[in-house]
Amino acid sequence: MSYVIAISNEKGGVAKTTTALSLGAALAELGRKILLVDLDPQANLTLALGFQPGSLEHTALDILLDSAPLLDPCRETNVAGVDLIPANSGIENAEQVLPVYINYTTRLQTAIQAVDPLPYDLILMDCPPSLGAVTINALTASDLLIIPTQAEYFSAYALRDMMSIVRQVRSEDNPNLAYRILITMLDQRNRTHRNIHEQLDRTFGDGLFKTLIEIDTKLRESPILGLPITQYKPNSRGALQYRSLAEELMQYVEQKNSEAA
Ligand SMILES: Nc1ncnc2c1ncn2[C@@H]1O[C@H](COP(=O)(O)OP(=O)(O)O)[C@@H](O)[C@H]1O
Ligand SMILES: [Mg+2]
Repeated sequence: MSYVIAISNEKGGVAKTTTALSLGAALAELGRKILLVDLDPQANLTLALGFQPGSLEHTALDILLDSAPLLDPCRETNVAGVDLIPANSGIENAEQVLPVYINYTTRLQTAIQAVDPLPYDLILMDCPPSLGAVTINALTASDLLIIPTQAEYFSAYALRDMMSIVRQVRSEDNPNLAYRILITMLDQRNRTHRNIHEQLDRTFGDGLFKTLIEIDTKLRESPILGLPITQYKPNSRGALQYRSLAEELMQYVEQKNSEAA
């Protein structure tokens, strides 16, 4: 069975897309087969992998709205071991139309479970910066929610909304949804960042990844070239930190899988 991960935060600009791409590529380097799913109408992940969203006929929308089989819109990418279900602005329609369907929260989960066995070790879904019908679908389908956050006051505040959506999804369709917070764009020299990191550590304990992602401008450049950081600058700080995140994540996933076996 594939391990399913949603990368979500209601706040924009917290490195959701950067994390989906960089973590996906780092997991592929570890030999895992990865399916990335772009669920954001802004289609940044799709763009970062070199696709033109406007020209795509088949996207994640087909799965959400038309019950297309999961892998119908799936494309190979230039990153070995990484495939992509792309998005374009059409996903915006899903936010309005999905709630019209009965059981609309489980449409993505149903599509994932229908393909058995799935040829992927992990599925990583890049969510839009909102907690609407599309994000609820992603969380309902997931084993784990990764919440990227900056060590800033308003970002820490937005975590409250993320915790209440976790409780909502657990009580409705997905009682086993786990979460992990990931600190991104950390500046170790900034005292506020250090304080908020300490505070998050005290509040969330094991709910926080030990790996920290620090500021690295190379991470801003890599999407322009259509490459993940691990290929664009393999020895950069960003590449090293996303690799260590991949290792921390795999330890967690393997532990969960052995508990379930
Ligand atoms: N660790 C980092 N250091 C510097 N810039 C980063 C880092 N992570 C992400 N960025 C940049 O921050 C911006 C927002 O990141 P993005 O992944 O698009 O966020 P989101 O998907 O949450 O909106 C982008 O320009 C991205 O290149
Ligand atoms: Mg994004």
